[in-house]
Amino acid sequence: MLVLGLMSGTSADGIDVALARISGTPPNLNAKLLGHTSVKFPPALRKEILRVAEQHPITAGALSQLNFRLGELFAGAALAACRKFRIAPKKIALIGSHGQTIFHQGRPVPYFAGPTASTLQIGEASIISARTGITTIGDFRPADIALGGQGAPLVPYADYLLYRHPKLGRVSLNLGGIANITVLPAAAKAEQVFAFDTGPANMLIDALVSHFTSGRQRFDKNARLASQGRSIPALLDNLLSDPYLKLAPPKSTGREYFGHGYLKKLLELGRPHRAEPNDLIRAATIFTALSVVDALNRFVLPKTKIHQLIVSGGGAHNPLILAQLSAALPGVEILPSSRLGVPEDAKEALAFALLAYETFHQRPANVPSATGARGPAILGKISYAPPR
Ligand SMILES: Nc1ncnc2c1ncn2[C@@H]1O[C@H](COP(=O)(O)OP(=O)(O)O)[C@@H](O)[C@H]1O
Ligand SMILES: [Mg+2]
Repeated sequence: MLVLGLMSGTSADGIDVALARISGTPPNLNAKLLGHTSVKFPPALRKEILRVAEQHPITAGALSQLNFRLGELFAGAALAACRKFRIAPKKIALIGSHGQTIFHQGRPVPYFAGPTASTLQIGEASIISARTGITTIGDFRPADIALGGQGAPLVPYADYLLYRHPKLGRVSLNLGGIANITVLPAAAKAEQVFAFDTGPANMLIDALVSHFTSGRQRFDKNARLASQGRSIPALLDNLLSDPYLKLAPPKSTGREYFGHGYLKKLLELGRPHRAEPNDLIRAATIFTALSVVDALNRFVLPKTKIHQLIVSGGGAHNPLILAQLSAALPGVEILPSSRLGVPEDAKEALAFALLAYETFHQRPANVPSATGARGPAILGKISYAPPR
């Protein structure tokens, strides 16, 4: 089956598209990545996504419009990928679309006298299936939350299929807006896989860069700015004492915690040290790497031997993050995911192609030990293509 995966993460930088040929039944499922591409969001729309994801007020009408407009953009990205890969849409059996997260509350909190967890990914799948003529599965997370899980992370299912190894203990690390790890002990069974969000990845770095350049620059390409900053150990220690790091997994986080409020906190923390912009960007970059290291030391390495750390997501292009990981994790080989055949920017989109394939075959694809769900769930909702 040819399947397209569409992913836009918490960075809201754009839509990553992966085309995969998938066959078989787990655990002997074969997924071959045939191509990947990405499409940027128009800047004004990106601003609106970030505004909404930061929980600024939006009317029901505007939210409804945003849902359908994003559906058009996702459909456009799928069609652009078809043109780029020179493949007719009618040859593609299925699309898996993660959608754009605008809210995620993985743990139940009191709400109108009832503990409530919820998550909202938008980008209307009926628009995607109608524009492309390809049956589309979207809205993967709610089914896991409905079983008491956090609805995240969902990529561990793909990590297990792609990276489990009979002799090597592996951790798959994705550095998107948020950083998350999947732990795959050597010869792991699915029940032994666990995963959680370790903290921020690019979210704080991007927020600082965008703040200091008044939006002219969106991210710290190749850590150029961070490399010019000076280290402020006391500031870094302060960041590393963040309570989120100590919270036992399963846990997930997002822009609600590491978003604008955290940017303000960082700016304040820098003041007594007279931190320059690049010093703060450096601190955020090192904090990102060391919060991953902290999670490994606290929750993973005491339990299981890890030989390799496989890194994907946009942050895998940040040389300072990679250098910090290498320095702090002696004995662990740091491998960009492309070394194992999946380009860093295609990994999550490929995961959603795989999840859609599983749902299409009515098989569960959450990993309860990763999300905390009571049991297996068949994820997502199907929007059929209009009849030809
Ligand atoms: N060359 C690079 N150098 C440093 N950071 C990069 C580079 N390329 C991408 N990034 C970072 O990766 C982020 C996007 O990563 P991505 O995996 O798409 O995250 P998400 O899944 O949240 O959308 C960018 O916002 C940027 O911070
Ligand atoms: Mg992205």
